Amino acid sequence: MTPMLRNPVLALAIALALPAAAAPLNDWPTVRSAIARDAALEQRVRDIVSKMTLAQKVGQMTQPEIKSATPEDVKRYYLGSVLNGGGSWPNGNKHAKAAEWLALAQRYHEASMATDMAVKVPVVWGTDAVHGHNNVFGATLFPHNIGLGAARNPKLMEEIGAATAKATRASGIAWVFGPTLAVVRDDRWGRTYESYSEHPEIVKSYAGAYVRGMQGMLKDDANTIATAKHFIGDGGTEFGKDRGVNKSTKSQMINIHGAGYYPALEAGVQTVMSSFNSWNDVASGTNYGKMHGSRTMLTDVLKKKMGFDGFVVTDWNGHGEVPGCRNDSCAAAINAGNDMIMVPDDWKAFIANTIRQVESGEIPMARIDDAVSRIIRVKLRAGLFDKSPAQNAYAGKDDVMQPRELARRAVRESLVLLKNDQPVLPIARGKKILVVGKSADDMSNQSGGWSITWQGTANTNADFPNGDTVLAGIREAAGKDNVTFSVDGKGIDVSTFDVVVAVIGERPYAEGDGDIGPSGTLRHSSRYPEDLAVLQAVSGKGKPVVTVFVSGRPLYVNDLLNLSDVFVAAWLPGTEGKGVADLLVSSGKRYDFSGKLPFSWPKSACQTDLNVGDKHYAPLFAYGYGLKAATRSKVGKLDTTYPQGGCGVSNSFPVFSQADRASFPLTIRSGGQTLALGADLNASFSLPGVNVQTSQVNTQQDAKLVTWTGPASVEARGARPMVLPAAAAANAALRFDTIVSKAPSGRITMRMGSGSLDTTALFKRLAGKGKQTVAIPLACFQAKGTDLAKVDTPFSITSDAAFAAAFTNIEIAGGAASEADAVRCGELQ
Ligand code: BGC
Ligand code: BGC
Repeated sequence: MTPMLRNPVLALAIALALPAAAAPLNDWPTVRSAIARDAALEQRVRDIVSKMTLAQKVGQMTQPEIKSATPEDVKRYYLGSVLNGGGSWPNGNKHAKAAEWLALAQRYHEASMATDMAVKVPVVWGTDAVHGHNNVFGATLFPHNIGLGAARNPKLMEEIGAATAKATRASGIAWVFGPTLAVVRDDRWGRTYESYSEHPEIVKSYAGAYVRGMQGMLKDDANTIATAKHFIGDGGTEFGKDRGVNKSTKSQMINIHGAGYYPALEAGVQTVMSSFNSWNDVASGTNYGKMHGSRTMLTDVLKKKMGFDGFVVTDWNGHGEVPGCRNDSCAAAINAGNDMIMVPDDWKAFIANTIRQVESGEIPMARIDDAVSRIIRVKLRAGLFDKSPAQNAYAGKDDVMQPRELARRAVRESLVLLKNDQPVLPIARGKKILVVGKSADDMSNQSGGWSITWQGTANTNADFPNGDTVLAGIREAAGKDNVTFSVDGKGIDVSTFDVVVAVIGERPYAEGDGDIGPSGTLRHSSRYPEDLAVLQAVSGKGKPVVTVFVSGRPLYVNDLLNLSDVFVAAWLPGTEGKGVADLLVSSGKRYDFSGKLPFSWPKSACQTDLNVGDKHYAPLFAYGYGLKAATRSKVGKLDTTYPQGGCGVSNSFPVFSQADRASFPLTIRSGGQTLALGADLNASFSLPGVNVQTSQVNTQQDAKLVTWTGPASVEARGARPMVLPAAAAANAALRFDTIVSKAPSGRITMRMGSGSLDTTALFKRLAGKGKQTVAIPLACFQAKGTDLAKVDTPFSITSDAAFAAAFTNIEIAGGAASEADAVRCGELQ
């Protein structure tokens, strides 16, 4: 495990930064849970299960989303659980308060207690309270896990787990889908911020503490059931691809990705969520496949070897991704060892199919009995049979959802001071401060994904009524008359201020959308040029610049560092912006920086993956690095070069996809009007003759369904012409996935730059055929006048009459023109 390092100073620095290394495990360990077996409780489980019918058992194993299952459904189908997905609220009310959540939870509960079962089994509601009770309006949001990793404070995790459990109980909910125990190794993954660290030791030291805080011994009104997720290997996929393939060896899987699970199980975590990723141990030639379908991992390893006696829940339609399965049918996932199936929408058909599969012997009855016994065991342990949601001591209490002081402290502990070349901090009260940057006064940017909405997008500051922006914090600490705010810093005379504070960074994203594709780079300014621009506007004017960088991961920011005298990594602090101000401005109480990097910080644009312990470890700031306000650094001028065409590992150039929505945003056009499709996945966009909604082609919400009723266009339009890397330009085709749900009734034209093709016959041929991948050779467009050097609209489709199709994964794919099923130019006349 010890890295071989030639540089003794670096070796020492790493040795000091690393927690004491434990001897690596050779096999999956057996774990003894703090929540021990109880003979009387087990007898009750057997008794209840023996009186259940098959339909009742399968219902018990099914978990729909609240939008598609009513309390009446819970009663009628004996549903064992419901969940609210990210950005799903009771009655669709984004601003629902504790009482409204509780009322719905109570109705579900009462419905489950009004079935015709011999022994009524209470339903359990699960929610993603992953940084506080983050789907709930007015709840305090803690820093995302990446920031907590910087705090190196297991005790704090216990407190946050406990506070989140109470907040969840206030809304009538008894089950949380957290903690996430991913050990993220490639920061291009859009869920990097849900991980405490790239180093298993931090995840290991936090997992048990968090579960203890959240679950306690499950006897108290203050506790909820916790979930260790996503089992296993979610943080280790190749290229950091969401739902991708983890190619770890068995030893790496056990010692890196498994590290958080042993303490979590020891603390008594009652549920484990299966992971979307696959595991292919290439070195040993063992392909475990999709984790949702792996009996080896779910049954042999987790339940038998490790001794887990709670239940396994699938991830959102994760069973549907197992080969041979569909969302509404998957015997393989149940046979592999999944006990509760998260089947948000297609649950009715799923129940019917599963009952049939048990009757035909495809799923053994013993497997069903085991699954149901596990679910009922956990429900009994958690006291769900004893009290209804409304009888909980915290039920309906909005103030319980606001552990603001705790969150503010967590923010302070999470900040990492990376550059401190000038003595600027702390800023004395009374100094004149110019605050700039798009994230200074933006709750949504500082909260990140999984905040009221799933992706964290489509929120305004008014959606966070009990929080403070960083700007509000600075105003309070410095005195509001001493603070001037300008988003872009344009037209401001910097010389009239003492100091500039720039708060910049990433905009919110979550699963899928947050991935940086293989042809992207880690360079922040390529995705967010406005941040470079604002620093250019204020830097070099004779006044010190303090940059606060709000992001879900370390990024290549050398250009931004060069324009800053002081640079703070603030991660995604959540609702308590005052915690950031506490470390910037000295007012009354004096706090100092204590955060240490939980992830290595890159030195160049393509430095992925980059993890402490790597053979040629050469970060800009090493794992464990973090300065005090009084420590001067000498970061100086850094190299700012980067490859224009991406990191060159790919021969495809993304135009529009779930993962690269920002590169060529979609717009619709009709008559003289143009409308940009915003990031809100729930919104519907219309102009005369055309409507666009989010839909699914491959995975949940990855596509745009365009419905034409009259003449209109949809186009992917960039700010600049595309620059194709050589590999993507060679023998290339415009490739996209589509589902044509209504054949064209008029003429369909596709345009790239100035060349147009008639694709009417093509789309007629594809209609009604389900998902199709289309590759149109660029040569066909070039023959009609497309100049590849001038294309700012690589994808444009126009219909002059009724037509409907969904589109995603739009890209320029090198080599695709010679694939057998590429479209012939002759078909496009
Ligand atoms: C995520 C899980 C989450 C679940 C329910 C999934 O897509 O991967 O982390 O718990 O949805 O929202
Ligand atoms: C839900 C999320 C879920 C995701 C899975 C979304 O629609 O709101 O909770 O994780 O789908 O893809």
